[in-house]
Amino acid sequence: MPIDFHDVANRNSYSGRQVDPSWSAAVRELVDPSGAVVVDVGCGGGIYSRGWHDLGAAMVLGVDSSASMLDAARTEHGGLPGVDFRLGDAAATGLAEGCADVVFERALVHHTPDLPAVAAEAFRVVRPGGTCLVQDRTADDVAQPGSATHPRGWLFEVFPRLLEVENRRRPDPGELTAALTGAGFEEVTATTLWEVRRRYDAPEEYLAEITTRTGRSILHELDDAELAELVGALRERLPDGPVEEIDRWTIWRAGRPS
Ligand SMILES: C[S@@+](CC[C@H](N)C(=O)[O-])C[C@H]1O[C@@H](n2cnc3c(N)ncnc32)[C@H](O)[C@@H]1O
Repeated sequence: MPIDFHDVANRNSYSGRQVDPSWSAAVRELVDPSGAVVVDVGCGGGIYSRGWHDLGAAMVLGVDSSASMLDAARTEHGGLPGVDFRLGDAAATGLAEGCADVVFERALVHHTPDLPAVAAEAFRVVRPGGTCLVQDRTADDVAQPGSATHPRGWLFEVFPRLLEVENRRRPDPGELTAALTGAGFEEVTATTLWEVRRRYDAPEEYLAEITTRTGRSILHELDDAELAELVGALRERLPDGPVEEIDRWTIWRAGRPS
């Protein structure tokens, strides 16, 4: 069954990790973060809200529809100057029109089927001349084969039905671009990013995270017995030594005309 973002049991699923320099460098290529007002929609536990703060944003407002996620975000990042969190829906944030230089939405839109509504709200919140960045995985990104640096690909080798779930929920690039342009954005581009998600000292550290389904909503589609089977299969495939997990993403950049 799909992840329940409101369940307190999942509150730490999207916190407790740091953004990697591979992400920071990619973002800097797309927008100037220094001094910016950034709205991080679907912020989860605020990992990327902190990331924007560290990139030099003047203000970061994380918005999420889950009070549990926001709880974790406030606990971990609420003390940072200029960083705040509030409850809101991606299609109706309640924020003032044109209040943001940048609207950022990472790993959100595969959970929000009404792309035009989410794009329209992003357009409303971005100031004229501002930028919207949508980071998500397409079906093609998800389907990248498994390897020692892309163990996520092995999930679908072991349980092919998970790929069907992904193919149903992942954003179609054409539809997302159409939603952004339909909302009024211009110059919509899509860039591929191989983002280092996390480094682990040893395979068992990585497997411990898989066992808790942390940060991987697709694992909520497996029952506990299937999850144990998956962990066993991954253990067989992973070489000894540190694990560097790298995932393929697409970042759409869209500008609101001045
Ligand atoms: C996969 S997590 C990503 C969290 C964070 N952006 C990250 O990349 O670590 C998706 C987040 O989107 C939030 N979310 C899902 N649907 C939403 C909606 N309609 N409006 C606002 N937030 C939503 C969930 O509560 C969850 O925190």
